[in-house]
Amino acid sequence: MGIPVIQSTVTGPATVSVRPPLGTLVDRYQRVATDLRVSLTDKCNLRCTYCMPEEGLPWLPKGRLLTDAEINRLVRVAVRLLGVTEVRFTGGEPLIRPGLPAIVAAAAGLIPRPKLSLTTNGIGLERLAGPLRAAGLDRVNVSLDTIDADRFTTLTRRDRLADVLAGLAAAATAGLTPVKINSVLMRGVNDRDAPELLRFALDHGYELRFIEQMPLDAQHGWDRSSMVTADEILAALRAEFTLLPDPVARGGAPAETWLVAGFTGLDGRPARVGVIGSVTRPFCGDCDRTRLTADGQVRACLFASEESDLREALRGGADDEEIARRWRTAMWGKRAGHDIDDPTFLQPSRPMSAIGG
Ligand code: GTP
Ligand code: 5AD
Ligand code: SF4
Repeated sequence: MGIPVIQSTVTGPATVSVRPPLGTLVDRYQRVATDLRVSLTDKCNLRCTYCMPEEGLPWLPKGRLLTDAEINRLVRVAVRLLGVTEVRFTGGEPLIRPGLPAIVAAAAGLIPRPKLSLTTNGIGLERLAGPLRAAGLDRVNVSLDTIDADRFTTLTRRDRLADVLAGLAAAATAGLTPVKINSVLMRGVNDRDAPELLRFALDHGYELRFIEQMPLDAQHGWDRSSMVTADEILAALRAEFTLLPDPVARGGAPAETWLVAGFTGLDGRPARVGVIGSVTRPFCGDCDRTRLTADGQVRACLFASEESDLREALRGGADDEEIARRWRTAMWGKRAGHDIDDPTFLQPSRPMSAIGG
């Protein structure tokens, strides 16, 4: 079996010069976006230090937020006209949005039915896991950076570890599997927690992934030298666990995964651990994602500097074909890579919490 090659950026020049007028969300490097990430709110009930300041942020005004009906319509256009096969709901914290189960149910009723997932901080999941599963949600990813209660409170500025652990357990019970955990390590705060987090995940059958911190914090405080790298994380894990190559193809996934020798997941299959090395091991060349913000802007990339306003198009009376045409145009302009290492790199003005990760 050959070693899968993930493209850190698109190699070579744009290969197509004319955008096809119809069909999928293709860009000029011939990547096709089939995975839609929909942010449902920019608000959050935690204040993770790597994400936003203690006092929160100036939240989007209500009138600029897409209504539930507008979200449902855009998801329908993406699935029916643009070839999107997977929809992930994100935030801020998406469980805050009251209409979430109905939004999930609307997406689950589409033909062809997209795969449906949610990325959440887990607060409220204890109550909502069952209703979301019943609405058609397939699986969840839960953010959890430490299982030490004090460090959790330091990192998130809220004493809510017990709620997150209860949310994880409820997700597993409801069958929202595989239940994945996302952990961001911060130097001097939780950077020694990697093996303990993995033991916790393995004990409970959750799939853990570590994420390199990206320059997307609202405070613009990211500093490459303080970022805990994929190599450091893997070295810490290998000191206590045997990691084996994962035979399953990665596709366009951000996470590079390994099998953890001697352990199985909730589904009885070999346990996995992953690293999302967005900075030191970028994967833009294989990106299959398109993003919609809570105020109805299409972003071709997490790090895009341009957005395309579908909310105003919707409210101005555009029909589905016109919406689809604008969405295709926005994705056609997707850049080859994120260029974090380029001296001219500029952090996007929208913070992570208002993009949805
Ligand atoms: P699955 O593995 O399919 O469950 O999803 P995922 O890992 O793509 O989704 P999740 O929402 O859990 O995101 C995990 C991390 O990957 C977050 O920090 C995201 O910001 C990051 N991520 C997701 N897509 C991209 C991307 O296109 N580029 C970069 N650089 N990071 C991404
Ligand atoms: N860099 C990397 N990951 C981040 N997340 C939030 N902010 C950052 C950042 N600056 C993570 C959250 C969540 C996921 C959506 O992204 O912890 O798990
Ligand atoms: Fe909220 Fe996620 Fe930001 Fe933490 S990282 S404050 S959970 S949006």
